Amino acid sequence: MPTSNIALAVQAKLTLKKASKTNPLPLIVLFATDKGEILGNLEHAEYIDRAGALIKQANFKGGLGETVTDYALHATDFPAVTIIGTGSLNKLADNIAKVAKATYQAIKNNKSAAILWGDTICQRHFTQFVIALLDGAYRFERHKAKPKDADAITNITIISNKDEQQDYDAALAFAIATDSGIVQAKDVANEAPNILTPSQLAKAAKQLGKDFADSIDVTVLGEKDMEKLGMGCFLSVSQGSDQEGKLAVIEYYGKSGKGKKAKLDNPIALVGKGLTFDSGGISIKPSAGMEEMKFDMGGAAAVLGAMRAAATAGLELDIVAVLACAENMPSGSSVRPSDIVTAMNGLTVEVLNTDAEGRLVLCDALCYVQENYTPKAIIDVATLTGACVVALGSHRSGLYSNDEDTLFALENAGEFINDLAWHMPLDAAYDELINSNIADIQNIGGPKGGSITAACFLQRFIKEGQAWAHLDIAGTAWISGKDKTSTGRPVALLTQYLRSQAK
Ligand code: BES
Ligand code: MN
Ligand code: ZN
Repeated sequence: MPTSNIALAVQAKLTLKKASKTNPLPLIVLFATDKGEILGNLEHAEYIDRAGALIKQANFKGGLGETVTDYALHATDFPAVTIIGTGSLNKLADNIAKVAKATYQAIKNNKSAAILWGDTICQRHFTQFVIALLDGAYRFERHKAKPKDADAITNITIISNKDEQQDYDAALAFAIATDSGIVQAKDVANEAPNILTPSQLAKAAKQLGKDFADSIDVTVLGEKDMEKLGMGCFLSVSQGSDQEGKLAVIEYYGKSGKGKKAKLDNPIALVGKGLTFDSGGISIKPSAGMEEMKFDMGGAAAVLGAMRAAATAGLELDIVAVLACAENMPSGSSVRPSDIVTAMNGLTVEVLNTDAEGRLVLCDALCYVQENYTPKAIIDVATLTGACVVALGSHRSGLYSNDEDTLFALENAGEFINDLAWHMPLDAAYDELINSNIADIQNIGGPKGGSITAACFLQRFIKEGQAWAHLDIAGTAWISGKDKTSTGRPVALLTQYLRSQAK
Protein backbone atom coordinates (compact mmCIF):
# COMPACT_ATOMS: atom_id res chain seq x y z
CA MET A 1 0.00 0.00 0.00
CA PRO A 2 1.43 3.38 -0.88
CA THR A 3 1.69 5.08 2.46
CA SER A 4 4.57 6.51 4.41
CA ASN A 5 5.67 4.64 7.52
CA ILE A 6 5.17 7.61 9.79
CA ALA A 7 2.53 7.44 12.51
CA LEU A 8 0.90 10.82 13.11
CA ALA A 9 -1.39 11.89 15.91
CA VAL A 10 -2.91 15.07 17.26
CA GLN A 11 -2.93 15.55 21.01
CA ALA A 12 -4.30 18.34 23.13
CA LYS A 13 -1.44 18.18 25.57
CA LEU A 14 2.15 17.11 25.43
CA THR A 15 2.74 14.18 27.73
CA LEU A 16 6.26 12.84 27.91
CA LYS A 17 6.99 9.36 29.11
CA LYS A 18 10.24 8.91 31.01
CA ALA A 19 13.12 8.63 28.61
CA SER A 20 15.01 5.38 28.27
CA LYS A 21 17.46 3.91 25.79
CA THR A 22 14.68 2.37 23.73
CA ASN A 23 12.32 5.29 24.21
CA PRO A 24 14.18 8.56 23.65
CA LEU A 25 12.33 11.80 24.23
CA PRO A 26 10.83 13.36 21.14
CA LEU A 27 12.32 16.42 19.56
CA ILE A 28 10.11 19.40 20.43
CA VAL A 29 9.39 21.66 17.45
CA LEU A 30 8.20 25.26 17.72
CA PHE A 31 7.68 27.94 15.10
CA ALA A 32 8.90 31.51 15.37
CA THR A 33 8.28 34.48 13.08
CA ASP A 34 10.82 37.01 11.86
CA LYS A 35 9.64 39.26 14.72
CA GLY A 36 10.73 36.67 17.25
CA GLU A 37 7.15 35.76 18.09
CA ILE A 38 6.71 32.10 18.99
CA LEU A 39 3.55 30.50 17.62
CA GLY A 40 3.41 27.89 20.34
CA ASN A 41 0.42 26.78 22.32
CA LEU A 42 0.49 28.76 25.54
CA GLU A 43 -0.13 25.68 27.63
CA HIS A 44 3.45 24.72 26.97
CA ALA A 45 5.13 27.68 28.56
CA GLU A 46 8.22 25.76 29.59
CA TYR A 47 9.15 25.09 25.97
CA ILE A 48 8.21 28.55 24.88
CA ASP A 49 10.53 30.02 27.51
CA ARG A 50 13.20 27.65 26.39
CA ALA A 51 12.72 28.60 22.76
CA GLY A 52 12.81 32.29 23.68
CA ALA A 53 16.19 31.81 25.31
CA LEU A 54 17.44 29.83 22.32
CA ILE A 55 16.36 32.55 19.89
CA LYS A 56 18.51 35.05 21.78
CA GLN A 57 21.50 32.75 22.21
CA ALA A 58 21.59 31.54 18.63
CA ASN A 59 20.90 34.93 17.06
CA PHE A 60 17.97 33.27 15.32
CA LYS A 61 16.22 35.61 12.89
CA GLY A 62 13.06 33.63 12.17
CA GLY A 63 13.58 33.71 8.41
CA LEU A 64 11.48 31.31 6.35
CA GLY A 65 12.87 27.81 6.82
CA GLU A 66 15.65 28.92 9.22
CA THR A 67 16.25 26.21 11.80
CA VAL A 68 18.04 26.09 15.13
CA THR A 69 18.25 23.17 17.54
CA ASP A 70 19.13 23.25 21.18
CA TYR A 71 21.22 20.09 21.38
CA ALA A 72 23.61 21.55 23.94
CA LEU A 73 20.93 21.68 26.58
CA HIS A 74 19.58 18.27 25.67
CA ALA A 75 19.58 16.21 28.82
CA THR A 76 18.01 12.79 29.22
CA ASP A 77 15.16 14.24 31.25
CA PHE A 78 14.48 17.20 29.01
CA PRO A 79 13.95 16.99 25.27
CA ALA A 80 15.87 18.91 22.63
CA VAL A 81 14.04 21.91 21.21
CA THR A 82 14.05 22.92 17.53
CA ILE A 83 12.74 26.23 16.26
CA ILE A 84 11.63 26.62 12.67
CA GLY A 85 11.48 30.12 11.19
CA THR A 86 8.22 31.05 9.47
CA GLY A 87 9.33 34.40 8.05
CA SER A 88 6.72 37.14 8.09
CA LEU A 89 3.46 36.18 9.79
CA ASN A 90 1.51 38.06 7.08
CA LYS A 91 2.93 35.78 4.43
CA LEU A 92 2.69 32.58 6.41
CA ALA A 93 -0.42 31.44 4.53
CA ASP A 94 1.60 31.27 1.29
CA ASN A 95 4.58 29.60 2.92
CA ILE A 96 3.05 26.70 4.84
CA ALA A 97 4.53 24.07 2.53
CA LYS A 98 8.01 25.58 2.88
CA VAL A 99 7.70 25.63 6.67
CA ALA A 100 6.56 21.99 6.56
CA LYS A 101 9.51 20.98 4.35
CA ALA A 102 11.95 22.68 6.74
CA THR A 103 10.23 20.93 9.64
CA TYR A 104 10.62 17.56 7.99
CA GLN A 105 14.34 18.18 7.39
CA ALA A 106 14.75 19.20 11.04
CA ILE A 107 13.03 16.15 12.49
CA LYS A 108 13.85 13.38 10.02
CA ASN A 109 16.84 12.01 11.91
CA ASN A 110 14.97 11.71 15.21
CA LYS A 111 12.82 8.76 16.06
CA SER A 112 9.95 10.93 17.21
CA ALA A 113 8.97 14.57 17.27
CA ALA A 114 6.30 16.67 18.95
CA ILE A 115 5.22 19.77 17.10
CA LEU A 116 3.71 22.58 19.16
CA TRP A 117 1.13 23.85 16.73
CA GLY A 118 0.50 27.59 16.97
CA ASP A 119 -2.89 29.03 17.88
CA THR A 120 -2.64 31.48 15.02
CA ILE A 121 -2.52 28.82 12.31
CA CYS A 122 -5.93 27.64 11.12
CA GLN A 123 -7.34 24.24 10.14
CA ARG A 124 -6.78 24.84 6.46
CA HIS A 125 -3.12 25.55 7.00
CA PHE A 126 -2.86 22.61 9.36
CA THR A 127 -4.10 20.35 6.55
CA GLN A 128 -1.64 21.86 4.09
CA PHE A 129 1.14 21.49 6.65
CA VAL A 130 0.54 17.80 7.27
CA ILE A 131 0.36 16.99 3.56
CA ALA A 132 3.64 18.83 2.87
CA LEU A 133 5.28 17.30 5.95
CA LEU A 134 4.48 13.76 4.85
CA ASP A 135 5.53 14.62 1.32
CA GLY A 136 9.03 15.23 2.69
CA ALA A 137 9.31 11.51 3.40
CA TYR A 138 8.63 10.46 -0.22
CA ARG A 139 11.32 8.36 -1.94
CA PHE A 140 11.46 6.56 -5.26
CA GLU A 141 14.29 4.10 -4.72
CA ARG A 142 12.81 1.06 -6.43
CA HIS A 143 15.49 0.86 -9.11
CA LYS A 144 18.55 1.50 -6.95
CA ALA A 145 20.75 -1.51 -6.23
CA LYS A 146 21.17 -0.21 -2.70
CA PRO A 147 18.11 1.79 -1.70
CA LYS A 148 18.76 4.34 1.03
CA ASP A 149 17.30 3.53 4.42
CA ALA A 150 14.11 5.36 5.27
CA ASP A 151 14.59 8.37 7.55
CA ALA A 152 14.62 7.65 11.28
CA ILE A 153 11.41 9.50 12.02
CA THR A 154 8.45 7.20 12.65
CA ASN A 155 6.31 9.10 15.16
CA ILE A 156 5.03 12.63 14.94
CA THR A 157 2.66 14.15 17.47
CA ILE A 158 1.10 17.50 16.78
CA ILE A 159 0.00 19.34 19.88
CA SER A 160 -3.19 21.23 19.15
CA ASN A 161 -5.68 23.37 21.00
CA LYS A 162 -7.69 21.31 23.41
CA ASP A 163 -11.11 22.62 22.38
CA GLU A 164 -10.65 21.88 18.69
CA GLN A 165 -9.36 18.36 19.09
CA GLN A 166 -12.09 16.76 16.95
CA ASP A 167 -11.57 19.20 14.09
CA TYR A 168 -7.87 18.53 14.17
CA ASP A 169 -8.42 14.78 14.17
CA ALA A 170 -10.66 15.08 11.12
CA ALA A 171 -8.20 17.34 9.33
CA LEU A 172 -5.36 14.96 10.13
CA ALA A 173 -7.23 11.93 8.81
CA PHE A 174 -8.05 13.81 5.61
CA ALA A 175 -4.44 14.93 5.18
CA ILE A 176 -3.14 11.37 5.67
CA ALA A 177 -5.68 10.06 3.15
CA THR A 178 -4.63 12.75 0.67
CA ASP A 179 -0.98 11.84 1.19
CA SER A 180 -1.70 8.20 0.37
CA GLY A 181 -3.18 9.41 -2.92
CA ILE A 182 -0.18 11.62 -3.64
CA VAL A 183 2.19 8.72 -2.96
CA GLN A 184 0.12 6.51 -5.27
CA ALA A 185 0.25 9.09 -8.06
CA LYS A 186 3.98 9.66 -7.65
CA ASP A 187 4.79 5.96 -7.56
CA VAL A 188 3.11 5.27 -10.90
CA ALA A 189 4.22 8.51 -12.55
CA ASN A 190 7.88 8.11 -11.59
CA GLU A 191 7.99 4.57 -12.93
CA ALA A 192 9.87 3.92 -16.19
CA PRO A 193 7.66 3.52 -19.29
CA ASN A 194 9.04 0.08 -20.20
CA ILE A 195 7.74 -1.07 -16.81
CA LEU A 196 4.65 1.07 -16.43
CA THR A 197 2.95 0.15 -19.71
CA PRO A 198 -0.75 0.92 -20.32
CA SER A 199 -1.55 -2.60 -19.07
CA GLN A 200 0.46 -2.03 -15.90
CA LEU A 201 -1.26 1.28 -15.26
CA ALA A 202 -4.62 -0.48 -15.62
CA LYS A 203 -3.29 -3.12 -13.22
CA ALA A 204 -2.55 -0.43 -10.64
CA ALA A 205 -6.23 0.51 -10.90
CA LYS A 206 -7.17 -3.17 -10.40
CA GLN A 207 -4.98 -3.21 -7.30
CA LEU A 208 -6.88 -0.24 -5.89
CA GLY A 209 -10.05 -2.29 -6.33
CA LYS A 210 -8.47 -5.09 -4.30
CA ASP A 211 -7.29 -2.71 -1.58
CA PHE A 212 -10.82 -1.32 -1.22
CA ALA A 213 -12.92 -4.36 -2.11
CA ASP A 214 -15.82 -3.04 0.00
CA SER A 215 -16.23 0.23 -1.86
CA ILE A 216 -14.43 0.01 -5.23
CA ASP A 217 -15.12 -1.94 -8.43
CA VAL A 218 -12.64 -1.86 -11.32
CA THR A 219 -13.28 -2.92 -14.92
CA VAL A 220 -10.58 -2.83 -17.59
CA LEU A 221 -11.47 -2.58 -21.28
CA GLY A 222 -8.95 -3.70 -23.91
CA GLU A 223 -8.69 -2.68 -27.57
CA LYS A 224 -11.27 -5.28 -28.73
CA ASP A 225 -13.81 -3.89 -26.26
CA MET A 226 -13.07 -0.37 -27.41
CA GLU A 227 -13.48 -1.39 -31.06
CA LYS A 228 -16.95 -2.69 -30.25
CA LEU A 229 -17.79 0.62 -28.61
CA GLY A 230 -16.55 2.56 -31.63
CA MET A 231 -13.76 4.39 -29.83
CA GLY A 232 -11.88 5.17 -33.03
CA CYS A 233 -10.10 8.24 -31.68
CA PHE A 234 -8.60 6.41 -28.71
CA LEU A 235 -7.58 3.46 -30.87
CA SER A 236 -5.90 5.69 -33.46
CA VAL A 237 -3.38 6.63 -30.76
CA SER A 238 -2.56 3.16 -29.50
CA GLN A 239 -2.56 1.46 -32.93
CA GLY A 240 1.09 2.38 -33.56
CA SER A 241 2.31 0.82 -30.33
CA ASP A 242 3.05 -2.81 -29.50
CA GLN A 243 1.47 -2.10 -26.13
CA GLU A 244 -2.26 -2.60 -25.97
CA GLY A 245 -4.32 0.43 -25.00
CA LYS A 246 -6.52 0.03 -21.91
CA LEU A 247 -9.43 1.91 -20.45
CA ALA A 248 -9.59 1.37 -16.70
CA VAL A 249 -12.95 2.19 -15.13
CA ILE A 250 -12.95 2.64 -11.36
CA GLU A 251 -16.27 2.87 -9.55
CA TYR A 252 -16.32 4.13 -5.98
CA TYR A 253 -19.52 3.52 -4.04
CA GLY A 254 -19.12 6.04 -1.23
CA LYS A 255 -22.78 7.00 -1.07
CA SER A 256 -24.91 4.19 -2.49
CA GLY A 257 -22.86 1.29 -1.10
CA LYS A 258 -21.47 -1.54 -3.19
CA GLY A 259 -24.28 -4.07 -3.45
CA LYS A 260 -24.82 -6.87 -5.94
CA LYS A 261 -26.65 -4.76 -8.51
CA ALA A 262 -25.32 -1.46 -7.32
CA LYS A 263 -25.44 1.50 -9.64
CA LEU A 264 -23.59 4.72 -9.05
CA ASP A 265 -25.91 7.56 -8.09
CA ASN A 266 -25.10 10.74 -10.06
CA PRO A 267 -21.39 10.22 -9.62
CA ILE A 268 -18.68 12.79 -10.05
CA ALA A 269 -16.70 11.55 -13.06
CA LEU A 270 -12.92 11.90 -13.21
CA VAL A 271 -11.11 11.22 -16.47
CA GLY A 272 -7.31 11.02 -16.68
CA LYS A 273 -4.92 11.12 -19.63
CA GLY A 274 -2.71 8.07 -19.24
CA LEU A 275 -0.06 8.21 -21.98
CA THR A 276 2.60 5.98 -20.45
CA PHE A 277 4.92 7.35 -23.12
CA ASP A 278 4.34 10.05 -25.71
CA SER A 279 6.97 10.01 -28.46
CA GLY A 280 4.70 12.17 -30.60
CA GLY A 281 4.07 9.28 -33.03
CA ILE A 282 4.73 10.07 -36.70
CA SER A 283 4.79 13.77 -35.75
CA ILE A 284 7.74 12.74 -33.63
CA LYS A 285 9.07 14.94 -30.85
CA PRO A 286 12.69 16.18 -30.72
CA SER A 287 15.02 13.90 -28.72
CA ALA A 288 15.96 16.50 -26.11
CA GLY A 289 13.59 16.14 -23.21
CA MET A 290 11.57 13.35 -24.81
CA GLU A 291 12.33 11.18 -21.77
CA GLU A 292 10.05 13.40 -19.71
CA MET A 293 7.11 12.13 -21.75
CA LYS A 294 7.00 9.14 -19.40
CA PHE A 295 5.13 11.59 -17.16
CA ASP A 296 2.43 11.99 -19.81
CA MET A 297 0.24 9.71 -17.73
CA GLY A 298 0.21 12.29 -14.91
CA GLY A 299 -3.50 12.94 -15.33
CA ALA A 300 -4.37 9.27 -14.93
CA ALA A 301 -1.91 9.03 -12.02
CA ALA A 302 -3.60 11.93 -10.24
CA VAL A 303 -7.07 10.51 -10.85
CA LEU A 304 -5.96 7.13 -9.53
CA GLY A 305 -4.40 8.85 -6.51
CA ALA A 306 -7.53 10.89 -5.85
CA MET A 307 -9.59 7.69 -5.91
CA ARG A 308 -7.29 6.10 -3.35
CA ALA A 309 -7.49 9.23 -1.22
CA ALA A 310 -11.31 9.38 -1.48
CA ALA A 311 -11.66 5.72 -0.50
CA THR A 312 -9.14 6.07 2.34
CA ALA A 313 -11.01 9.12 3.65
CA GLY A 314 -14.31 7.27 3.18
CA LEU A 315 -15.86 10.24 1.37
CA GLU A 316 -19.62 9.87 1.18
CA LEU A 317 -20.23 10.32 -2.52
CA ASP A 318 -20.19 8.19 -5.64
CA ILE A 319 -17.34 8.61 -8.10
CA VAL A 320 -16.47 7.02 -11.41
CA ALA A 321 -12.93 7.40 -12.71
CA VAL A 322 -11.69 6.51 -16.17
CA LEU A 323 -8.00 6.16 -16.94
CA ALA A 324 -7.27 6.37 -20.66
CA CYS A 325 -4.06 4.35 -20.87
CA ALA A 326 -2.09 4.21 -24.13
CA GLU A 327 1.34 4.64 -25.64
CA ASN A 328 2.02 6.97 -28.60
CA MET A 329 4.69 5.47 -30.87
CA PRO A 330 5.83 5.77 -34.50
CA SER A 331 5.55 2.56 -36.53
CA GLY A 332 4.15 1.13 -39.75
CA SER A 333 0.76 0.89 -38.11
CA SER A 334 0.72 4.39 -36.62
CA VAL A 335 -1.97 6.90 -37.38
CA ARG A 336 -0.75 9.42 -40.00
CA PRO A 337 -1.22 13.16 -40.19
CA SER A 338 -4.40 13.62 -42.31
CA ASP A 339 -6.05 10.35 -41.22
CA ILE A 340 -9.72 10.69 -40.29
CA VAL A 341 -11.05 8.75 -37.32
CA THR A 342 -14.46 8.50 -35.64
CA ALA A 343 -15.18 8.90 -31.94
CA MET A 344 -17.65 6.86 -29.91
CA ASN A 345 -20.32 9.58 -30.28
CA GLY A 346 -19.99 9.59 -34.08
CA LEU A 347 -18.01 12.82 -34.46
CA THR A 348 -15.19 12.58 -37.01
CA VAL A 349 -11.71 13.94 -36.35
CA GLU A 350 -9.01 14.79 -38.84
CA VAL A 351 -5.67 13.99 -37.20
CA LEU A 352 -3.39 16.76 -38.42
CA ASN A 353 -0.71 16.18 -35.82
CA THR A 354 -0.22 12.79 -34.18
CA ASP A 355 1.44 14.50 -31.22
CA ALA A 356 -1.91 16.01 -30.24
CA GLU A 357 -2.89 12.55 -29.00
CA GLY A 358 -4.08 13.32 -25.47
CA ARG A 359 -7.31 14.87 -26.69
CA LEU A 360 -7.90 11.80 -28.88
CA VAL A 361 -7.80 9.32 -26.03
CA LEU A 362 -9.73 11.70 -23.77
CA CYS A 363 -12.60 12.43 -26.16
CA ASP A 364 -13.59 8.77 -26.27
CA ALA A 365 -13.21 8.47 -22.50
CA LEU A 366 -15.49 11.51 -22.12
CA CYS A 367 -18.06 9.89 -24.43
CA TYR A 368 -17.78 6.69 -22.40
CA VAL A 369 -18.64 8.30 -19.05
CA GLN A 370 -21.56 10.24 -20.53
CA GLU A 371 -22.88 7.13 -22.27
CA ASN A 372 -22.68 4.88 -19.20
CA TYR A 373 -23.35 7.21 -16.24
CA THR A 374 -25.26 10.37 -15.44
CA PRO A 375 -22.41 12.39 -14.00
CA LYS A 376 -23.11 15.33 -11.72
CA ALA A 377 -19.93 16.80 -13.14
CA ILE A 378 -17.04 15.53 -15.23
CA ILE A 379 -13.48 16.61 -14.46
CA ASP A 380 -10.76 15.57 -16.87
CA VAL A 381 -7.12 15.88 -15.96
CA ALA A 382 -4.33 15.86 -18.53
CA THR A 383 -0.73 16.79 -19.29
CA LEU A 384 -2.28 18.13 -22.46
CA THR A 385 -0.24 20.97 -23.94
CA GLY A 386 3.20 22.53 -23.92
CA ALA A 387 1.32 25.78 -24.52
CA CYS A 388 -0.14 25.59 -21.01
CA VAL A 389 3.39 25.49 -19.59
CA VAL A 390 4.18 28.65 -21.59
CA ALA A 391 1.01 30.35 -20.34
CA LEU A 392 1.06 29.45 -16.64
CA GLY A 393 4.49 28.00 -15.90
CA SER A 394 4.76 25.36 -13.20
CA HIS A 395 2.83 27.07 -10.44
CA ARG A 396 -0.81 26.80 -11.48
CA SER A 397 -2.69 24.23 -13.52
CA GLY A 398 -4.92 25.53 -16.33
CA LEU A 399 -8.62 25.27 -15.42
CA TYR A 400 -11.39 25.32 -17.99
CA SER A 401 -15.09 24.85 -17.32
CA ASN A 402 -18.52 25.28 -18.86
CA ASP A 403 -20.18 25.45 -15.42
CA GLU A 404 -19.81 28.11 -12.72
CA ASP A 405 -20.44 25.83 -9.74
CA THR A 406 -17.84 23.34 -10.88
CA LEU A 407 -15.39 26.11 -11.68
CA PHE A 408 -15.73 27.76 -8.27
CA ALA A 409 -15.64 24.45 -6.43
CA LEU A 410 -12.36 23.52 -8.15
CA GLU A 411 -10.84 26.97 -7.67
CA ASN A 412 -11.77 26.94 -4.00
CA ALA A 413 -10.49 23.42 -3.48
CA GLY A 414 -7.16 24.42 -5.00
CA GLU A 415 -6.93 27.48 -2.73
CA PHE A 416 -7.91 25.51 0.36
CA ILE A 417 -5.30 22.83 -0.15
CA ASN A 418 -2.62 24.95 -1.88
CA ASP A 419 -2.72 23.09 -5.19
CA LEU A 420 -3.57 26.05 -7.38
CA ALA A 421 -5.32 26.38 -10.73
CA TRP A 422 -6.13 29.37 -12.92
CA HIS A 423 -9.32 29.95 -14.86
CA MET A 424 -8.79 29.96 -18.65
CA PRO A 425 -11.27 30.91 -21.43
CA LEU A 426 -13.34 28.81 -23.83
CA ASP A 427 -14.63 31.52 -26.18
CA ALA A 428 -16.30 30.51 -29.44
CA ALA A 429 -13.61 32.45 -31.31
CA TYR A 430 -11.05 29.89 -30.14
CA ASP A 431 -13.36 26.99 -30.78
CA GLU A 432 -13.69 27.93 -34.48
CA LEU A 433 -10.00 27.25 -34.96
CA ILE A 434 -10.55 23.51 -34.72
CA ASN A 435 -13.13 23.27 -37.49
CA SER A 436 -11.92 20.97 -40.27
CA ASN A 437 -12.86 21.45 -43.92
CA ILE A 438 -13.15 17.70 -44.40
CA ALA A 439 -14.17 16.20 -41.03
CA ASP A 440 -16.17 17.55 -38.07
CA ILE A 441 -13.11 18.60 -36.11
CA GLN A 442 -9.35 18.74 -36.56
CA ASN A 443 -7.09 17.80 -33.69
CA ILE A 444 -4.98 20.98 -33.66
CA GLY A 445 -5.93 24.64 -33.84
CA GLY A 446 -2.72 26.19 -35.11
CA PRO A 447 0.19 27.82 -33.33
CA LYS A 448 -1.72 30.24 -31.09
CA GLY A 449 -3.63 29.58 -27.86
CA GLY A 450 -2.73 25.90 -27.91
CA SER A 451 -3.93 25.08 -24.40
CA ILE A 452 -7.27 26.77 -25.14
CA THR A 453 -7.92 25.09 -28.48
CA ALA A 454 -7.10 21.74 -26.87
CA ALA A 455 -9.74 22.45 -24.20
CA CYS A 456 -12.21 23.50 -26.92
CA PHE A 457 -11.58 20.16 -28.64
CA LEU A 458 -12.56 18.30 -25.47
CA GLN A 459 -15.62 20.48 -24.98
CA ARG A 460 -16.92 19.39 -28.41
CA PHE A 461 -17.49 15.97 -26.81
CA ILE A 462 -19.48 17.27 -23.82
CA LYS A 463 -23.24 16.98 -24.17
CA GLU A 464 -25.45 20.06 -23.84
CA GLY A 465 -26.11 20.78 -20.17
CA GLN A 466 -23.40 18.46 -18.85
CA ALA A 467 -21.23 20.18 -16.21
CA TRP A 468 -17.58 19.70 -17.12
CA ALA A 469 -14.14 20.99 -16.27
CA HIS A 470 -10.71 20.33 -17.69
CA LEU A 471 -7.40 20.67 -15.87
CA ASP A 472 -4.31 21.08 -18.06
CA ILE A 473 -1.53 19.94 -15.74
CA ALA A 474 1.33 19.93 -18.28
CA GLY A 475 3.28 22.42 -16.16
CA THR A 476 2.41 21.14 -12.70
CA ALA A 477 2.48 17.33 -12.83
CA TRP A 478 6.23 16.93 -12.66
CA ILE A 479 9.49 18.78 -12.06
CA SER A 480 11.83 18.81 -15.08
CA GLY A 481 15.57 18.37 -15.34
CA LYS A 482 18.17 16.36 -13.48
CA ASP A 483 15.98 16.00 -10.41
CA LYS A 484 12.96 15.06 -12.49
CA THR A 485 10.15 13.74 -10.34
CA SER A 486 6.39 13.59 -10.20
CA THR A 487 4.79 16.25 -7.97
CA GLY A 488 1.67 14.20 -7.30
CA ARG A 489 -0.38 17.20 -8.43
CA PRO A 490 -3.30 17.71 -8.61
CA VAL A 491 -4.25 14.86 -6.27
CA ALA A 492 -4.75 17.29 -3.38
CA LEU A 493 -6.94 19.63 -5.44
CA LEU A 494 -9.08 16.74 -6.69
CA THR A 495 -9.43 15.12 -3.28
CA GLN A 496 -10.42 18.40 -1.65
CA TYR A 497 -12.89 19.02 -4.48
CA LEU A 498 -14.42 15.57 -3.95
CA ARG A 499 -14.63 16.25 -0.23
CA SER A 500 -16.46 19.50 -0.92
CA GLN A 501 -18.98 17.60 -3.06
CA ALA A 502 -19.63 14.87 -0.47
CA LYS A 503 -22.66 15.09 1.79
N1 BES B 1 2.02 15.48 -23.76
C1 BES B 1 2.14 16.58 -24.65
C2 BES B 1 2.05 17.91 -23.94
C3 BES B 1 3.26 18.34 -23.16
C4 BES B 1 4.37 18.82 -23.80
C5 BES B 1 3.22 18.32 -21.79
C6 BES B 1 5.46 19.25 -23.05
C7 BES B 1 4.29 18.78 -21.06
C8 BES B 1 5.41 19.23 -21.69
C9 BES B 1 1.03 16.53 -25.68
O1 BES B 1 0.62 15.27 -26.07
C10 BES B 1 1.54 17.22 -26.90
O2 BES B 1 2.45 16.73 -27.49
N2 BES B 1 0.94 18.35 -27.22
C11 BES B 1 1.37 19.12 -28.33
C12 BES B 1 0.15 19.62 -29.05
C13 BES B 1 0.44 20.24 -30.37
C14 BES B 1 0.91 19.19 -31.35
C15 BES B 1 -0.81 20.91 -30.88
C16 BES B 1 2.21 20.28 -27.80
O3 BES B 1 1.88 20.82 -26.76
O4 BES B 1 3.20 20.60 -28.44
MN1 MN C 1 1.77 14.52 -27.67
ZN1 ZN D 1 0.88 13.78 -24.73
